[in-house]
Amino acid sequence: MIRSVVRGVGSALPRRIMKNAEFEGMLDTSDDWIVQRTGIRQRHIASEDETTASLGEAAARAALENAGLTPADIDLIVLATSTPNNTFPATAVEIQHRLGMRHGFAFDMQAVCSGFVYAVATADSHLRAGLAKRALVIGSETFSRILDWSDRTTCVLFGDGAGALVLEAEEGEGSVADRGVLAASLRSDGTHKDKLYVDGGPSTTGTVGHLRMEGREVFKHAAGMITDVIEDTFHRAGITAEDLTWFVPHQANKRIIDASAKKLGIADEKVVITVDLHGNTSAASVPLALDVAVRDGRIREGDLVMLEAMGGGFTWGAVLIRW
Ligand code: ACO
Repeated sequence: MIRSVVRGVGSALPRRIMKNAEFEGMLDTSDDWIVQRTGIRQRHIASEDETTASLGEAAARAALENAGLTPADIDLIVLATSTPNNTFPATAVEIQHRLGMRHGFAFDMQAVCSGFVYAVATADSHLRAGLAKRALVIGSETFSRILDWSDRTTCVLFGDGAGALVLEAEEGEGSVADRGVLAASLRSDGTHKDKLYVDGGPSTTGTVGHLRMEGREVFKHAAGMITDVIEDTFHRAGITAEDLTWFVPHQANKRIIDASAKKLGIADEKVVITVDLHGNTSAASVPLALDVAVRDGRIREGDLVMLEAMGGGFTWGAVLIRW
C-alpha cells in the first residue's frame, strides 16, 4: 500500500503587518467590532515586490528545508490559489522555475478557501497513482490585490501569505501504512456561486475584479457544511472526534471555528487558531496554521490531524493525516 507521508512544512508572510486600528482612519469600523465578530487582530499585506509566486516560493523553500530536501527531490508542485500572478501560465510553473526545477510537473488548483484541502487530496491521488514520488503542496494568496478597500464588510477580513507541505509516497504495510494522508472528503455546490465571488474575470469583464461576499449567508452555511464533511472523513477513516489530536480548520472567523468544533465534540484545546494573527488568507490559511503548530511543538510525529476548509463556490472539504 502506498501512503502520502508528510516530510516537512513551511510558510511565508509579507513583511507589512496591518493592525485593525489602521482601518479606523479609513472606514466606519473599529478594532472592537472586528475582534468581536471575527477574532482577527491583524493581517499581513503584500508590498509591490511580494506576489503569490514569491510568497509561494519562500514557503516552499522553508518546507523543503524542514524536510531536509532540495528542489531536485521534488517532482510535483500543486499550488492552491485564487490570486495567481497571471491568468496563465499557472503560478505553480513560475514557482517551479524560481526553484530552479526543469523536471517534474506543476499546476494550479482553484477552490478558493478550500484550495489547500483540495490540493492535498489531489497530490495524494497523484502520489498513490505513481505519477510522482514527492510533492510540494502550496497554498499562496495575495487577496489584498482583489479587495475593495472601501467596503468595510469584506476588506477587514482578509490577509496575504503562503504555506507549504512536502508529501512523499511511501510503500508500507501494518503500522507504516497508518501514516500520512488517511482519508479525505471533498464537496462543492455551485448554487451558492453568487454568495462569495469576484466580480471580474478574463472571459466576462476582462478585468481582475473585486471580492464580493454576502457574509451572513456564508456564515449561515459554514458550520453545517464543515461538520458534514468532517463527519464523513471520520466515517471513512473509522475514527471519532475523541481520536483526533489536532483540528486545523480554515481560519476565516473564530466564531465559525468555535461553532464547528462544538458541534463535532472537538475539545477547545485541540483546535489550532491563527485567525487573530493572519486574518483569512484563503488557500494559505490551513498550511500557515499547520506551520505555526508544528514549529511551536504542538503537532508531533504520530499525531492525528484533521484539516478542514470551506469557501467560495461553495466548496468544502476535509483531510485526515497521521503526522
Ligand atoms: N465594521 C463595523 N460594522 C460592520 C462591518 C465592519 N467592518 N462590517 C459590517 N458591519 C455592519 C453591517 O453593516 C451590519 O450593520 P446593520 O446591522 O446596520 O446592517 C452589522 O455590522 C452586522 O453585519 P452582519 O453581516 O450581520 O455581521 P456578522 O455578525 O454576520 O459578521 C462577518 C460579518 C464577519 C462577515 C460574518 O458574517 C462572517 O464571518 N461570514 C463568513 C465569512 C467566511 O467565513 N468566509 C469563508 C470563506 S472566505 C473564502 O472562501 C474566500
